[in-house]
Parts: sequence; C-alpha cells; structure tokens
Amino acid sequence: MPHPLEQLRDEALRQIESATDEQALETTRVKYLGRSGSISSWGEKMKALAKEEKPVVGKLLNEVRNAVTAAIESHNAQFHLQKESGALAKIDISLPGTPHEIGSLHPLHQMHERGIQIFRRMGFALAEGPDVETEWYCFDALNTPPDHPARNEQDTFYLSDGRLLRTHTSTVQIRAMESAPPPLRVIASGAAYRRDEVDATHSAQFHQIEGLYVDENVSVADLKGELEFFMRELFGPGTDVQFRPHYFPFTEPSLEVYVRSKALKRGEQWIEVAGCGMVHPAVFEAVIKARDDKAYDPEKWSGYAFGLGMDRLAMILFDIPDIRLFAQNDLRFLRQFA
Ligand code: PHE
Repeated sequence: MPHPLEQLRDEALRQIESATDEQALETTRVKYLGRSGSISSWGEKMKALAKEEKPVVGKLLNEVRNAVTAAIESHNAQFHLQKESGALAKIDISLPGTPHEIGSLHPLHQMHERGIQIFRRMGFALAEGPDVETEWYCFDALNTPPDHPARNEQDTFYLSDGRLLRTHTSTVQIRAMESAPPPLRVIASGAAYRRDEVDATHSAQFHQIEGLYVDENVSVADLKGELEFFMRELFGPGTDVQFRPHYFPFTEPSLEVYVRSKALKRGEQWIEVAGCGMVHPAVFEAVIKARDDKAYDPEKWSGYAFGLGMDRLAMILFDIPDIRLFAQNDLRFLRQFA
C-alpha cells in the first residue's frame, strides 16, 4: 500500500501532465504546493507522528515536493518555448527591412561651414550674438544716427518692446569688443533680417559671416589681402576680386567687394558679395563708453571689419538661381546637395 504522500504525488504528476496551459499549471501548483496545499499540509501533520516515523516521512515529503516542483517547472518552460516559437513563426525574416533616411546639411549650412573653415585657418575665433537685438547694438554703437534710413520702420522688423531683428551681423562686432580687450580676431556667422521686397535675389531673412580684426597698425592692405585669400580659397585660384568705394556709417573708408571667376557659371560677371572697411573711430568710442575703460583707444588700435553675404556666395558657388529655394524645404532641391 503506497504512502498517502506518494498517492498525492502521482495524482499531482498526472494533473501536471494533462495541463494544457500555464493557468492550469498554476492551479495545480496551488492545490498541492500552496500554503494550504495538500502536500504542504504534511508539514503540519508530521508533528503528530511518532519519533521514529518523523525522519522517514520527512524524507518522503521532501522527495515528493521536489518531484512535483520539478515537473511544474519543466512544463512551464515548455509552454514558454511554444509561445516564443509561435511569435517567431509569424515574422518573415526574409522580408527587406525599413530603411532609415539619412539626412544631410542644408546648402547654406554647408556654405557657412566652408567659410568658417577658411577663416579658422587664418586665426579667426568664433563669436556670437542674438538675432533679437537692441537698437543700440544694431545702430547707435555702430555710428548709425537716428535719421539713418536703415532704422526706418519700413526697413527693419521691430518688436513691440523696441527691440528688433538684427539687420546685419555687425552687432557682434560690438558684443565681441565689449567682452574682450584687443587684439581681437573674430568671425560671427548667422542670420540677419530686413523688410526687403522678396524676389529671386532678396529675402527677409538672409545670412552673413561678420569679421572683425583689431590690432596695432592694421591697414586696408591687410583687409584686401585677407578677403582676396578667402575668395580664392572658396572659388579657386582664377578668381578676381575687386574693391569699390562705398559708404557704411561704421567703417571709414568703406568698400564693397565684387568677385568674378572663370570657374563660375556666370564667369564674366562681377558679383557683389560683401561690405567691408576700416573700423570707424566712433565705433571704438562707443565701445570705450560701454566697457568704461580705454582698452579700445582709437589712437592706439585700428581694425577692419567685413560682412559677407552667405546666401549670395552659396548661390554663386552652387549655381542656385533663386534665393527663395533656400527656405522652401523642397526635397528635390535639397537632395542635390546631400
Ligand atoms: N553690415 C554691413 C551690411 O550688412 C556689411 C559690413 C560689415 C560693412 C562690416 C562694413 C563692415 O551691409
């Protein structure tokens, strides 16, 4: 006659064998091995047994418990395996994957990076300023009087609090000189804004690289040499550069820069690409006031500044006919520069 524990074991093993899912297995486990399960309850029953019976039944209880536990675990593992292979079977691993679209830099961004690279090699550091500016940084400090047309509401985007979208990156000249004494050699790259009539060559938002060099005995020759070098690095050795007299309030003398290159599509034509000049003493005076020191004494220091039209340069370099293409986000256009 088998021991009742052995009967319980055989009963449990039969139920485990016939369980069809994890739920049924769990029910069986609770029934025999749970806190008040019929096998577990033998722990209590043992206390009432005779001394010499205890070790025999104790050993049997352990064996029974282990056998049932092992059977439940191995069945559980089988159910898991079935589930996983079922899920895998639904995946067709021979199907092609979903390709990731790889982005690329906007042509204007590429243009800025090329420009910055060239100036870096010439020892220029990067400076920064905000797009939303005060009138002081944009005009007053740059010797641009209140009656100058650039300050007109028809020409500039004003905010209701009197600030404005900078009309050029020359604002960064002032910010750079405010934050560091001379000698100074910086460029700043970014957007500028004007209320221009939008057409193929004008946009309300355009982009510039500003440059400023302040040192002892800086001359127009330095300025010309530096910009000529830049244009030849950009457009190739066959590039002609021409400087024509112009007027800017913050430089004296002031010049406009034109380029022409046989390597370019519009080969024979002079194209205006930058404004430049020698820093006006009045600009140094404004910085002296702002810094409250004589660091930028115009008797001791001189400098040149320039502002390059990056949209123009990119249009020439990449042969782009219309400035509006830069902002239209047409992938057929952008993909050509990927
Ligand atoms: N700020 C001028 C413009 O946007 C360009 C310029 C920069 C001219 C620096 C002289 C010196 O037209």
